[in-house]
Order: sequence, then C-alpha cells, then structure tokens
Amino acid sequence: MQRRPNAAGLSPRAVGTAARIVTISLDSVVARYRRNRERSKALFDLLEEDTYYSQPIALRQPVVFYEGHLPAFSFNTLVKKGLGGPSIDPHLETLFARGIDPHEAAVAGSTPADSRSQWPAREVVRQFVDEADRQVMLALQHATLEDPGHPLLDRAEAVFTVLEHEAMHQETLLYMWHRLPLTQKRSPTDYRPRTTGVSPQQEWVSIPGGLATLGVDRETIPFGWDNEFPASVVDVPSFLIERWDVTNDRFMEFVAAGGYKQPEWWRQEDWQWLQAGAVEHPLFWERHRGRWYWRGMFDLIPLPMTWPVYVSHAEASAYARWRGARLPTEAEFQRAAFGSAAGEREHPWGSASPASEHGTFDFVSWDPEPVGSHPQGASAWGVEDLVGNGWEWTSTTFGPFPGFRAMASYPEYSTDFFDGEHFVMKGASPATARELLRPTFRNWFRARYPYVYATFRCAGR
Ligand SMILES: [Fe+2]
Repeated sequence: MQRRPNAAGLSPRAVGTAARIVTISLDSVVARYRRNRERSKALFDLLEEDTYYSQPIALRQPVVFYEGHLPAFSFNTLVKKGLGGPSIDPHLETLFARGIDPHEAAVAGSTPADSRSQWPAREVVRQFVDEADRQVMLALQHATLEDPGHPLLDRAEAVFTVLEHEAMHQETLLYMWHRLPLTQKRSPTDYRPRTTGVSPQQEWVSIPGGLATLGVDRETIPFGWDNEFPASVVDVPSFLIERWDVTNDRFMEFVAAGGYKQPEWWRQEDWQWLQAGAVEHPLFWERHRGRWYWRGMFDLIPLPMTWPVYVSHAEASAYARWRGARLPTEAEFQRAAFGSAAGEREHPWGSASPASEHGTFDFVSWDPEPVGSHPQGASAWGVEDLVGNGWEWTSTTFGPFPGFRAMASYPEYSTDFFDGEHFVMKGASPATARELLRPTFRNWFRARYPYVYATFRCAGR
C-alpha cells in the first residue's frame, strides 16, 4: 500500500493507513462533502455583497459568521479533534467555532444590525475557508476516518457529524435569508411558487393504539445524533390526528376570530410575547393595503391559502386550543408517521428512498406547496405530508431518551437544550436535506421562535 504524504498536517495516527470506513463508502463521503460545500456556496451567492455583515435575525450571528463557521466546524471536529492535526489560525477557529441559541428577546420585526467592525474582511474569511476545506478534503481522502474505540472516530462519528452539521445549517441559512429585505437577494429567474389547488376539507384520521419506537440503538444505523439514542418503545393509546397540516386559510379563521387578541388561548408567557412584540399574525404573513401576502424568499405574493401555515409553537398551540384540540406528542407523531398494522416503517410511505413524489424536501422548492400535493407520501394510516412541506410542532419538550450519552464529536449538541424550554419538531421542511429524513431525527426550538419553516396539525382523542 502506498503511503500518502502528510499534506494535511495530520498526526501520524491519521495517515499512513488506507482510509477506512465501514458504515458508508469513502467515495460517498467525499461526494457528500463536496456537494454540501457547493450547496452552501450557492446559498451565500444568493445574497448581495452588502448583506455580508448584516444580522437578519436578532441574536443569531451575522452572515459572515456562517461562511466561516461551516468549514471551521468541519476542520475543528475532524482534522483537529478527531485526527489531532495542527491549527490553521487559532483565532479564526475560535471565532467561527459556534453559533448561539436564539433567546426570548428575539422578537419579530427586530431591526437587522450591522456588525462589520467585529468581524474579519471577507477576503480573510475566504482564505481561512479555503484552507480549512482543503485540509478536510485531504483528511476525507487519505486519513483513517474510522477507528473503533476512539471517541471521535468510532463508527466514523466525526465524519458524519461534519456532513450532517453542514446540511442542517443550510436550512438555518435559508430561514435567515428569508428575513432579509427582498432587494438584498438574487432571485433565480426560473422560480415560480406553486400556489394552485384548493385546500382539502380537513379530516380526522383515527390512529389505533399501539407501540411507537422513539430513538434507535446506535449500532443499528450508520449515524445518528446523540439525542436519537438509544431506542425506547412507548405504548401510544389510540388518538385522532388531522390528515393535512393546518393551512393558511384554516389559520386565517383563527386570526379573523380575534384569536391573537384573546388571552384564553395562550399560555401566559406566550401571551406576554404577543403583547411585547405586538404580534397579530404569523411572521410569514404581511398585510398591505388591506390584503394578505406571503413573504416568500424572493417575493411578496398573495397569501397562498392552500399552503401549510408556518408559525411558532406558541401560535400552533393557541390555534389548537381554540379548536378544542391539541398538538400531537412526539410519540403520537411517530405512530402516525411510521406505524402500520404490520410494524414500523422506515418512512411514512414505506421503505423506498425519499423522492420528489413523496414530499416537499431536499431543497426542491424555496417555499411550501399546497397540502395534499403528495398523496404518494402518505403514511400507512393515510396521513399526508408528515415528512416534508414544513417541520411539525409537537407538544413534547425536548429531552433525552433513557440511557442518553452526549456524543464526543459535539458534546453540547443536545445537552445545552435539555432545559424544558424547547419543543420537539418532527418531519422535514422544503429546506431539509434528504439525508436527514430518518424516523429518529429530532429538531427543536423555543416556543416563541417564529422564523423556522414549521407548521403543525391538530390531534385529539
Ligand atoms: Fe453549527
């Protein structure tokens, strides 16, 4: 076997042996990293240059941070921590190490700030990015990526952490870009949102009681985040759930009925948030000259009534209460999506790999699509759009499954958020990468965070 030069500056343990990875092929790891980088670059290219230091969402980082953060995280996790390689630039590696959690104070309509003075010039960021990328790529091609018993290389954990981290951030970037002024974005010329269709009459689907598996045992899948492990089986009593997500026209009934002005539908802290921010409707809606519009990524369009409404957990819960219903629990979502009379499925539609006929995900659209557009993606019980077209809020606070252990490659990934303030979202949005569409993947946000591509449906019993 030919020895490779130590071009990435890696420690001796990291080179000299053939790259080895048993969970997926080396070629696919390299291809995934490249594809991630190209997609991230395309997302940054959507922005006009003058947005670089702006902060589209208060208390998230400015645009500049994310351009540095993605390769910095990959370099720090795989090359430095995993393989013991030396630094490129300790200051920039620290500066770009980690974003921050959106706090309560981030209210709708906050003025974007400009943070030019605190951040390096774009040219400096790009030089760092290029070098970090070069070293990560060399490591992926030549280093020993899998090393049983090594805290970060067991089952090639660091590699998958890097790959999924970037894919997840692409969704974060998109919902941040969504808040930038329309004039600061370059719209793809061939893009037209799909707004046709009529909202189907909402139906309740009865899901029989049975077992739902939350989580999975680590050794049974190539990779999962720590909060997905281990498997725990829960018995879910029978319940009702809506066949479709709540659409803009259904949610309009709540707005028109004065729902945002009636404290009885809101938890006290959610009601205070409405008052403090003068919140009167979903953040994605705008009202101009007496008409309702959807604020899309590139355009303001007449509110598409058949699209799932995108709202915070606070708004979803209030609507459900007003309807005399509630949000589903995480276990109910799991049962509705993946359960069947013949046992649990890999995806709502079965075992076929996720494809465009199954739902709106994997960056196929900048916006949602009308509910009912993907009957082929229905679950065994006939519930539609459970994966795709918007994350779905559950009533479950984010917490560990019994037997949880923080992961070595990203120990704070979940544990920082086990605070009872974050709620689990399941499914996927149009901006969720297809590799994240596994039944155990969990997303979570604070109840009053209105920026994400998140919708909901009601449950009852
Ligand atoms: Fe990150």
